[in-house]
Amino acid sequence: MDLRSEIDRRRTFAIISHPDAGKTTLTEKLLLFGGAIHVAGAVKSNKIKKGATSDFMEIERQRGISVATSVMGFEYNGQKINILDTPGHEDFAEDTYRTLTAVDSVIIVIDSAKGVETQTRKLMEVCRMRKTPVMVFFNKLDRPARDPFDLMDEVERELKIRVRPLAFPISDGPTFKGVYNLYEDRLSLFFSESRQTAEGEVVDITLDDPRLDQYIAPFTDKLKENLELVEGVYDPFDREAYLRGELAPVFFGSAINNFGVQELLECFVRIAPSPRPSMTEQRPIDPYEPKMTGFVFKIHANMDPNHRDRIAFLKICSGVFERNKNYLHVRSGKQMKFSAPTAFMAEKKSVIDFAYPGDIVGLHDTGNFKIGDTFTEGEQLKFTGIPSFSPELFRYIENADPQKFKQLAKGIDQLMDEGVAQLFVNRMNGRKIIGTVGALQFEVIQYRLEHEYGAKCRYEPIQIYKACWIESDNREQMADFMKRKYNNMALDKHGRDVFLADTSYALSLAQEKFPDIRFHFTSEF
Ligand code: G4P
Repeated sequence: MDLRSEIDRRRTFAIISHPDAGKTTLTEKLLLFGGAIHVAGAVKSNKIKKGATSDFMEIERQRGISVATSVMGFEYNGQKINILDTPGHEDFAEDTYRTLTAVDSVIIVIDSAKGVETQTRKLMEVCRMRKTPVMVFFNKLDRPARDPFDLMDEVERELKIRVRPLAFPISDGPTFKGVYNLYEDRLSLFFSESRQTAEGEVVDITLDDPRLDQYIAPFTDKLKENLELVEGVYDPFDREAYLRGELAPVFFGSAINNFGVQELLECFVRIAPSPRPSMTEQRPIDPYEPKMTGFVFKIHANMDPNHRDRIAFLKICSGVFERNKNYLHVRSGKQMKFSAPTAFMAEKKSVIDFAYPGDIVGLHDTGNFKIGDTFTEGEQLKFTGIPSFSPELFRYIENADPQKFKQLAKGIDQLMDEGVAQLFVNRMNGRKIIGTVGALQFEVIQYRLEHEYGAKCRYEPIQIYKACWIESDNREQMADFMKRKYNNMALDKHGRDVFLADTSYALSLAQEKFPDIRFHFTSEF
C-alpha cells in the first residue's frame, strides 16, 4: 500500500470524560466491536480505581500497567484505528492535555444524569484551542437521565460548540427503548439484558414500519415529535463544520450494555479525520510529505527503580518511520536509530519495521528525551502546539539531604522532562517551585526522587494562584512590570518569564494596571 493510502486509512483519536462518565467502558466496547478483544474486561485500563487516591504507589503501579494501553490500535473496515488512552484520574490531567496534542479527533463521553462536568470543560478548552473535531456520546441512558434537549443545550453553552444529534433516545432509565439513528434513518432497539460480547444485536426497523408501536409504545408519538423538533432546531449535519471543530455530532447510548456503541463507531469511521497537517516553528508539515517527522508527546518511566529507562511516545506526523534508520534528534543535534521501536495493538506490544502518520511509536529512552522533542530526516524543525498549562498547585521544593544535591538536581530535571510536573525558579531568591495539577504529584515526585535517584526532598508552602506566561510589545511597560513584580517573577524550564500571581485579585489588578501586557495561562500563545 502506498503512503497516501496508509495515511488516509488512519484514525487517531482519544476518548475523554469526567471520571466515571464511562470512558473506560466505552474504550473497551469499541475494542470489542473492532474485534481487537473478544470479551469485555480484557483490557487493563488506565483507570485508577476509586479509593486509590491516598495510595499513590497503587496509582503508579496502575500507571505502569497503562503503558500497554497507552495506545490501542486495531483494524476496522479497512481502517487503522488508534485510540490513545488518557488517565482517568484528574490529578494526571496534564498527561491528558498532552495526549490531546497527538490526536486528530476526540470523543467526549458525558454521563446523561450529570451533564457537563468540570473535567470535561477543561479538556474541551484544549480541544477548542487546537480546533480538534469532537463527537459527543451521552452515556448511561439505561439509568434515569436528563432531558436530551437540555443536555445538548448545556453542551452548546458550557463547551461552547454547536451540536447536531445524529441519534435520538427513546425514553431513559427502566423504560429506555433504544435510539433512533438519524444518520442512517433507522431504529435500534435496546434489550436490557447485559451484553458482554459484540454478538446478538439490535432489531433494525424504520420510522414508518407498522411494527414500531409494538416495540416502542407508549413513546411512538413522543419520538416523532422529538425528531420533528430536532429537524426544526438543528441545522443538517455538516461534516466540514465538524472537521473545523465547530460542530459536534451527538450520540446517545449505554456503553456498559453495548448500546449505541456500534452506531458511534460506524459513524466515526465514516466522518472522523485522517491525520491532519501539524505546525512547526518553521513551517506547516503535511502528513503526505515523504520525509519522516514526528514529536514526543509523552514519556513513561519504567516502573522498575533499578532501570531508569523510559518509553518515549513518538507521534509520526509525516513520511514513513523505519526501524534502524538514522533520524535527527533536533534538540541535541544527534543522529539516532532505533532497533526495537514498538507499536501497540490492543493488548499486545510488538516491534515494528514501519510506522505511518497517525501512528504512535514507543521508543526506548535512557533519559535523553523531553516532551516536545522533534525527530526528522535532517531538517531543523520544532513542532509547536505542545504547550504547558498553568499548574494549579505550587510548593517550594528543598533539598533534605545536603550530600545528595546533584542527585536531587538530576532527578528533578528528568522528572520535569517527563512532564510529571512543572518547575519554576524564583527570580528573586533562586528557589525552585514545583507546580502540578493535582496534589498526588507531590507525593509521586518525592517517592520517585528517593527511590530512583537516591535523593530526598521536602516541600514548603507558597501562596500562588496561577502561573502566567507574559509578553508585551511595550518594552517600557514590561520593564516596569518586571521591576515592580520582581518578587513574583520566575523562569520556566525553557527560561521564559512567568508571573506567579498570589491571588486572582492580584492578577486582575496587574492586568488592569499593565494593559499592554498579555497574560497567558499556557506556554504557547
Ligand atoms: P471512567 O473511565 O470514565 O472513569 O468510567 P468507567 O468506564 O470506569 O465507568 C464508571 C462506572 O460507570 C462503572 O461502574 C461502569 O460500570 C459504569 N458505567 C459505564 N457505562 C455505563 C452505562 O452505560 N450504564 C450504567 N448504568 N453504568 C455504566 P463502577 O461501579 O464504578 O465500576 P465497575 O465495578 O462496574 O467497573
